[in-house]
Amino acid sequence: MTVLEKHEMGHPRLLSLSLLLFLLFFSSPQTSLSAPSPPTFKPPDNYLLDCGAPKTTDLPDGRTFRSDPQSSSFLSTAENVQAATSNISTNISSSPLYLTARIFPERSTYTFFISQPGRHWLRLYFYPLPHTLFNLTNAIFTVATDTTVLLHDFSIPLDSSVVFKEYLLNIVSNRFSLRFLPLKDSFAFINAIELVSAPDTLMTDTATAFSPTGEIAEFTGVSKFALEILYRLNVGGDLIVTDNDTLGRTWRPDSSFLKFAPMAQNVSISPKSVNYLPDDSNVGGHATPLIAPTLVYASAVETADSNVIDPNFNITWEFNVDPNFSYLIRMHFCDIVSKHLNDLYFNVYINEMIGISQFDLSTITSGLAVPYYQDFVVNASSISNQTVLVQVGPASEVDSGTVNAILNGLEVMKMSNSVGSLDGFFSVEGSRIIYRDPNSGISSKKRLIAVIGLIMSVGGLIMLAVVFCRWQKRPHDWEKRNSFSSWLLPLHVSHSSFMTKAGSHRNPFGSHKSKSGYSGFFSSTLGIGRCFSFAELQEATHNFDEKAVIGVGGFGKVYLGELEDKTQLAVKRGNPQSEQGINEFQTEIQMLSKLRHRHLVSLIGYCDEQSEMILVYEYMSNGPLRDHLYDSNLPPLSWKRRLEICIGAARGLHYLHTGAAQGIIHRDVKTTNILLDEKLVAKVADFGLSKAGPSLEQTHVSTAVKGSFGYLDPEYFRMQQLTEKSDVYSFGVVLFEVLCCRPAINPALPREQVNLAEWAMQRNRKGLLEKIIDPHLVGTICPASLKKFVEAAEKCLADYGVDRPSMGDVLWNLEYALQLQEAWGRVDDDDDPTEANSSKLIVMAESGSTAAAPTSTR
Ligand SMILES: *[C@@H]1O[C@H](CO)[C@@H](O)[C@H](O)[C@H]1NC(C)=O
Ligand SMILES: *[C@@H]1O[C@H](CO)[C@@H](O)[C@H](O)[C@H]1NC(C)=O
Ligand SMILES: *[C@@H]1O[C@H](CO)[C@@H](O)[C@H](O)[C@H]1NC(C)=O
Repeated sequence: MTVLEKHEMGHPRLLSLSLLLFLLFFSSPQTSLSAPSPPTFKPPDNYLLDCGAPKTTDLPDGRTFRSDPQSSSFLSTAENVQAATSNISTNISSSPLYLTARIFPERSTYTFFISQPGRHWLRLYFYPLPHTLFNLTNAIFTVATDTTVLLHDFSIPLDSSVVFKEYLLNIVSNRFSLRFLPLKDSFAFINAIELVSAPDTLMTDTATAFSPTGEIAEFTGVSKFALEILYRLNVGGDLIVTDNDTLGRTWRPDSSFLKFAPMAQNVSISPKSVNYLPDDSNVGGHATPLIAPTLVYASAVETADSNVIDPNFNITWEFNVDPNFSYLIRMHFCDIVSKHLNDLYFNVYINEMIGISQFDLSTITSGLAVPYYQDFVVNASSISNQTVLVQVGPASEVDSGTVNAILNGLEVMKMSNSVGSLDGFFSVEGSRIIYRDPNSGISSKKRLIAVIGLIMSVGGLIMLAVVFCRWQKRPHDWEKRNSFSSWLLPLHVSHSSFMTKAGSHRNPFGSHKSKSGYSGFFSSTLGIGRCFSFAELQEATHNFDEKAVIGVGGFGKVYLGELEDKTQLAVKRGNPQSEQGINEFQTEIQMLSKLRHRHLVSLIGYCDEQSEMILVYEYMSNGPLRDHLYDSNLPPLSWKRRLEICIGAARGLHYLHTGAAQGIIHRDVKTTNILLDEKLVAKVADFGLSKAGPSLEQTHVSTAVKGSFGYLDPEYFRMQQLTEKSDVYSFGVVLFEVLCCRPAINPALPREQVNLAEWAMQRNRKGLLEKIIDPHLVGTICPASLKKFVEAAEKCLADYGVDRPSMGDVLWNLEYALQLQEAWGRVDDDDDPTEANSSKLIVMAESGSTAAAPTSTR
């Protein structure tokens, strides 16, 4: 026993408490890194055509391309089609595919039968061979599928001879057409075509996105986009040719994209040492050999030797891109540099926006040399200088660990735009390619500039109209998510000017107005509430008396104030020094002003005089729910009361998720953020604290991890992708906290009990839950009500967001539990359950299902 314990404690994974807590989320003990059998993916569809070739062509990698006669059944075209063949042994490329071409003076279409819809690679080879009748370098043509324009008015660029295009298209029907449409009086040509199924596991539907303000959000709907692979790099390694890749891809070295080579150095291990997690591993983002071969993960670029150069800098790769498109960027990581776990922490940036902060691979993968990948979507609006910058750099905020950063592989893919094109603003309409006014295709940056221009020249009223137009205009999917900050203060010029530090009063819309005009305009038009003077609040709080402090949060202190008319207020005074505070302040105003609900704490007003940031809320006299559960002298709440409180909080969250224009994710659901008013009505508070500002990811990781450990959705942790279901998870923890009256994390307890979510789930599985519920409740709960409640809590804590119920479902279950309790009705409704210390014992489960739901509604 002692030996075992010693062994466990000595394990590097358990060295720090925070890590231990983290592991409790993931206590899946499967660490067996079985070497997966060599991947064998047999593409259901595999069309390889060497156009213009009189006979089949065998490539060195073992693949055979069909000859022209063999592929004639796919092609529909006019009669006078020419085949171009060059016998000149050109040394332009080793590939024999470039030695022949097919020329189309008329529109021509290849049509393929698709046996299995899904992502397919389409690879097109172009080389302008010499021909007696056609000068192929003059050819101008469009290439399109039934839904997507791939190339528009394309011609071979002057500075290149060979053009290779690679697409990853989601084909949804059983027929796929590839059309070649020559410009009038011109013609089209193609040397070779590959159309090959990609495995379903290759692409997921979600990615990490950056909003224009730099916030991290989840992007869903990747499958709706056609992708063009622009760059695929084996970072720190050599060229990987088609025969060495599991799926016939080519990976190029990265050195030509490195911005300052002396900062980086290559590192590699034997490919045999790469440990893929098993395919069915539940670690999100773990790579399989199909995602990328071992050769990609066995080499990396790391920061240059610290003896040579100060290692505290970023390694930067730069890629030229068309700024009118958004890009899907897949980064491949595999910690081949660390000697032990939790030694390497680094930051990942894309276009100078933080993508992953304090990235610790070994915590995610529970091992070294385990391949991992993450997808990011970079919105067109965040692309300046026609470049995408990818950077990795040491996380200097973390003082432990080695100062280093790595990247093993990188794929940059262009995403089709709003008109379904990967090249310009022409779309496929029936059989024609026509220009489409890309109203939604214009990058929001341009729209923003237009809006600012308008405001500068005209006044506030017109601006307001613009604001509303903009608000009503449906934003892109990636803007829709998490963009609650987008309309009230849509002009991010306001970032620093809203709360001017110097105390000059510029209004949030960037134009100068008198203070009074601004306030009146602001509050009356946008319903933000009352503008308090600083003196008024000073008086209400007795000059911010420390004795009046009723709470301290990340934002600052909260004081109890009283106006002359005896109205009580909660006055939250921000720390004006913190840039973060400004962002939070703005976010909270934006959020609260849009949200009115009986179960959300309402904002009464604000004060921004003298560079103060003060928010004034209704006062919740009964304080946080947590105080009524444990660590205080307050009397215990009855079961019915607890159910009512949970129902109130669930209603508030349900409204946040569904009632507002776009779903809002609270992110910090916990018992200290559920406040009770004088009638013990529950209201959700503090939405706005953890999600403002461009440096969101940074603060999020530090505040949420430190502040709300025990409530954090493990999936969010793994995937860094936030959904409403993260709130549902946290709410599940709240439910158990209400039932068991103990903190979500209690490090003083034996290891298996530290994390309440884990412990309650474990007890429940063993049928021992009643042993850990609040002793005050024993005998007072209707067993059926308890069962329903526990069921709801349990479902909230499902490992995967998709398996968790919506807040609406949770609410329904809690209401049902309340009805069951009321029908049982033998326990009085006072808040003094000690009187009800009857002899009834709780019987779990058995009687639960038989209790009929009462029909009366409340
Ligand atoms: C890293 O390896 C690549 C491919 O072998 C090579 O081209 C590049 O020069 C190397 N870079 C450094 C800094 O050694
Ligand atoms: C690439 O594949 C060829 C042929 O299968 C093989 O001989 C070669 O060793 C492979 N290269 C690497 C680096 O694995
Ligand atoms: C790394 O790059 C990011 C974004 O471009 C920047 O904010 C950060 O300061 C850089 N870190 C270092 C150490 O230069």
